[in-house]
Amino acid sequence: MKNVAVAGAQWGDEGKGKVVDILAEKFDYVIRYQGGHNAGHSVVFGGKRYALHVLPSGIFHADTVNIVGNGVVVDPFALLKEIEGMESKGISVTPERLKISDRAHIILPYHGIIDRWRESGSGKRQIGTTGRGIGPAYEWKASRRGVRFCDAYDMGHFRQRVEYEYTAIREIYGDMDELAEWPLSRVLEESCAAVARLMPHVIDSVYELAEARAQGKRMLFEGAQATLLDVDFGTYPYVTSSNSCLLGITAGAGVPPGAIQRSIGICKAYTTRVGKGPFPTELHDDTGTKLRDAGHEYGTTTGRPRRCGWLDLVALKYVQHLNDFSTLAIMKLDVMDSLAEVKLCVGYRLDGEEITRFPAALDALDRVEPIYKTFPGWQTPLHEVRRYDALPTEAKNYLAAVERFIGCPVGLVSVGPDREQTIFRHADLFN
Ligand code: GDP
Ligand code: IMO
Ligand code: MG
Repeated sequence: MKNVAVAGAQWGDEGKGKVVDILAEKFDYVIRYQGGHNAGHSVVFGGKRYALHVLPSGIFHADTVNIVGNGVVVDPFALLKEIEGMESKGISVTPERLKISDRAHIILPYHGIIDRWRESGSGKRQIGTTGRGIGPAYEWKASRRGVRFCDAYDMGHFRQRVEYEYTAIREIYGDMDELAEWPLSRVLEESCAAVARLMPHVIDSVYELAEARAQGKRMLFEGAQATLLDVDFGTYPYVTSSNSCLLGITAGAGVPPGAIQRSIGICKAYTTRVGKGPFPTELHDDTGTKLRDAGHEYGTTTGRPRRCGWLDLVALKYVQHLNDFSTLAIMKLDVMDSLAEVKLCVGYRLDGEEITRFPAALDALDRVEPIYKTFPGWQTPLHEVRRYDALPTEAKNYLAAVERFIGCPVGLVSVGPDREQTIFRHADLFN
């Protein structure tokens, strides 16, 4: 039995949704283990594009059970909207196909309000969050003030918990305009109604997954965000509030470390970042614009333009130390088709000295200058390539340089958004 984990190797939006969707049919379970509806995972097949936020990307496969793990923070309004959107497109999201851990924390309206209020201030405190209440929901969880789905097994108890938290919040944040639109009566009425509609999906996922493991069922763990947005290992404080690298799986899904046999690091052939924070290889020139245009680099969740730059191997090597991915999936190689030359960052210069480590301190990261190795571009459309051997030599040389530097095979190459536009190089890694 091989359970597989998929996680982002950069700053998000690498194409995790596409890879999970492709692999999901071989798995009994697809499990999200962290994040919330700050995520936007796109899946394209049959000429249609689907955007997933909290629903795991296994939802398109009739026989796959999708689990929203205990480590996810769930906005009941957003999830209901997402379910309705899927149902309207003919994708059924029954309680048999979507299960939510009863230990998952609930994002309540005041979390989003606090998140947006903080971001609306000026100056250095802005992170560029998605404004979805993710950070405050994790804060409430860590400060032991969170409300979980299991609290709603008894709706009277749930109401009491929400009322208590709301009252405390009003005392501290009473002057926030948006809060005035959410008096206690509205928070209670709407939240209770939304949570009640989700309760048929709520289970104790610890037992479900323990039984599934005992029966040899296969699990695919789907990460949201990415390693460089991880609250411990990312470019803090410009990060999300969960452990979004592989290290978050055991705590966020409720499985022991031995439950994961293989892992796939999802990485674009270049780099993007949305929101604020350091980005050593960011391009502010025509090439950056070309990458943004060719890659349609606008956020799935917020529509914000993504910042674009060259692939940073110093950052990727750091990411590999943390995750020890069995294989890399290099996505969006086709986006670089028209470039005459392509670059890989193979080192940094910090205060005149060459370094190969990704610094923890933000001011150092802000100051580093990338050292590049330049490669000739392939200047051939890759959309229709389906075999690794058929890639142009220039593209293969570029990928080989990534493999050598990182010490991890490139087992999958993606040359377009569609399921079909995928090259499996080491098929055995995906069985
Ligand atoms: P995720 O958050 O990691 O799931 O990634 P997103 O879905 O937010 O962003 C990836 C974007 O790139 C989506 O619009 C995908 O449809 C698209 N995409 C994925 N793989 C490829 C690829 O190989 N080539 C191109 N051109 N687009 C891709
Ligand atoms: P997927 O799963 C890219 C970024 C936000 C912001 C920071 C904190 O689609 O790859 P938050 O709302 O989480 O408190 O915002 O993290 N961010 C993402 N960037 N992809 C994502 O998800 C992201 N989720 C959060 O832009 O910089
Ligand atoms: Mg995304």
